[in-house]
Amino acid sequence: MPVFQAEAVVVSAINFCDRPMRFPPSILDEIRARLPVSAVVGRRVRLMKAGREWKGLSPFNAEKTASFFVNDDKQRYFDFSSGRNGDIFNFVMETEGLSFGEAVERLAAEAGVSLPRETPEDARREEKRQGLHEIVELAARWFEYELTTERGARARDYLDRRGLGPDVRRRFRLGYAPAGRHELQNALAAKGVSVEAMIDAGLLIAGQDIPTPYDRFRDRVIFPICDARGRPVAFGGRAMAADVQPKYLNSPETPLFHKGALLYNFHNARKAVHGGGDARAPFPIIVAEGYVDVIALDMAGAPQAVATLGTAMTPDHLALLWRSVDAPVLCFDGDRAGRRAAFRALDVALPLLAPGKSVNFVLLPEGQDPDDLLRAGGPEAVLAALGVQVPLIDMLWTRETEAGALDTPDQRAALEHRLRDVVFRIQDETVRRHYRAEIDMRVAALMPGAQGRDERAFSGRRGNWQGNPQGGWRQGSGGGRFQSGGRGGRGAAGQISPGASLAAHPGFAASAEFPREMLIVALLIAHPDLLADHGEELAALEFRGPEARRAAAGLLDCIAAHGADQDYSVALRRAVQDAGLLARLDGLRKRMAAGAAWALAPEADRIDVEGMLRQAMTLQSRSGALHSELAAAERAFAEEESEANFSWLCDVKARLTTLEGAEAQADEGRW
Ligand code: UTP
Ligand code: MN
Repeated sequence: MPVFQAEAVVVSAINFCDRPMRFPPSILDEIRARLPVSAVVGRRVRLMKAGREWKGLSPFNAEKTASFFVNDDKQRYFDFSSGRNGDIFNFVMETEGLSFGEAVERLAAEAGVSLPRETPEDARREEKRQGLHEIVELAARWFEYELTTERGARARDYLDRRGLGPDVRRRFRLGYAPAGRHELQNALAAKGVSVEAMIDAGLLIAGQDIPTPYDRFRDRVIFPICDARGRPVAFGGRAMAADVQPKYLNSPETPLFHKGALLYNFHNARKAVHGGGDARAPFPIIVAEGYVDVIALDMAGAPQAVATLGTAMTPDHLALLWRSVDAPVLCFDGDRAGRRAAFRALDVALPLLAPGKSVNFVLLPEGQDPDDLLRAGGPEAVLAALGVQVPLIDMLWTRETEAGALDTPDQRAALEHRLRDVVFRIQDETVRRHYRAEIDMRVAALMPGAQGRDERAFSGRRGNWQGNPQGGWRQGSGGGRFQSGGRGGRGAAGQISPGASLAAHPGFAASAEFPREMLIVALLIAHPDLLADHGEELAALEFRGPEARRAAAGLLDCIAAHGADQDYSVALRRAVQDAGLLARLDGLRKRMAAGAAWALAPEADRIDVEGMLRQAMTLQSRSGALHSELAAAERAFAEEESEANFSWLCDVKARLTTLEGAEAQADEGRW
């Protein structure tokens, strides 16, 4: 009999749906008191003393400057890059993907605090579950064994044909259920398992009109389904012949198995994510549709794959995934049914989005699942397909825009209305605000006046997400696959990923040279007549770069000195020249975005130039306001490290990041 490689699990039996009140607050306090946050965190994050706190690089985001703080007095950590904060339990949950109960048990053991015994009722239920666990484990071993016997030869052939060799069979504990009606039943009975218990474990088919219970799985290849701790709790059985229905047969719901809250291979996936050693760049978990697909992904080099169990994605699934990773990748077949499933998953995820928690989509080539891809094109084909990830916002945009034409104001109004309704379903206020802003921006880009502009604004942003852990994990180069019928590049999702995605990109920061400031003053120097209409606005702007500040002051002097002249624009032009500002134009041009250089030519279209100036000035003014608010929020947080001040600070930072996303577009000259 194959040896069962049990994962060494020290925690006592507790499922991921924890019973409430299991841990009285006093016990949790005791554990917190004994384990300094810096000690728990220090195992994953290199911390340096900073005053009364500790400081290090965020374990949640790849960053270069430390924005992660640990305060042992407050028994909390604060991560300004991701907006997360919490205590030792949160930290272990977040970085190791453990449930609250598991985190408590782990840290209690470390702290030498003993947890209270459960109530007798709890204990009885737990005992029964333990019994079921043992029975399912016995069944799993028996199925594994049967795959090695003579009557398992056909199943071995079948698996060989599918490329699932001995090594993979062992790792995924594949098995075979022989054809008779009482095979498993007899084998388990010989070990003293009662028929009733076998029924409870979902192994037998029984019912009022069924006189003798019989084996549920007959003549099928068996895929054991494990809980989050790797214990088998259910089975999926694959028929070997095409004409046998159903193709897959699963265990029914049992006290151990709730398919809406379990994912196939989750126990391995979360180890792959967190055990990789680099907590700062975890692989995203990939959610596929079938058992064999998970195994194919594993063989292709993506051991962090899971699958739903013949059901659509549920909120429980998402909660489970989000406990391990920020943005699981949902992988669907590229055909109509796959897209429909993707849209359904989108609808499940949308209301539940939280800051830093989202999903990305992969739509595979039509009619291919990961298993097909692996066999047709090898691991490279699988990894390449996974490399093309579509952010949720693009998926949403695609769905709403591809429905019909957007040529008339009515059609665009209807679109805007639909989108607002959808965005309204996002429960989290911050996320909702950012989606709203993003949607508004995209809708605005559809306006006739924005023709062509939108194309510039939204195309070519693909490269920005490169440099993910596996090199190939980049987003949004799926061009064409999401093209909406006949509408070319116009806002077609799948290739666009502006602001919102950038906002999520932690390493993003405004350039030190403030190209937008250079752009504003350069435009005004090159087209002094614009000063007439925009002087007041210019006066109200704050410039962070000294060079732009000097140039702006020079421009304001010109207005002041020549405001009364008869031919205003001629006078301004001369003033600008006299002030020596024109001479600076070349220097400015080098430091503003290259893509905007055309706007400095004297013959550049006045409407285009003015549009560009307006947008730059608006961004500048908003960024100024946000920087003031940031300073205020930082002061408030320095005075009092309350939750409210913390979330204010994170919120301002998030809004700045979004704005900087828009700025980056401007800086690239994509107006
Ligand atoms: P598919 O029919 O797409 O099959 O079902 P597949 O995963 O490609 O399987 P192979 O490659 O033909 O073996 C996808 C998933 O849906 C569930 C199973 O979990 C399956 O892996 N399913 C499918 C069922 O539960 N019952 C069925 O009859 C069919
Ligand atoms: Mn398949």
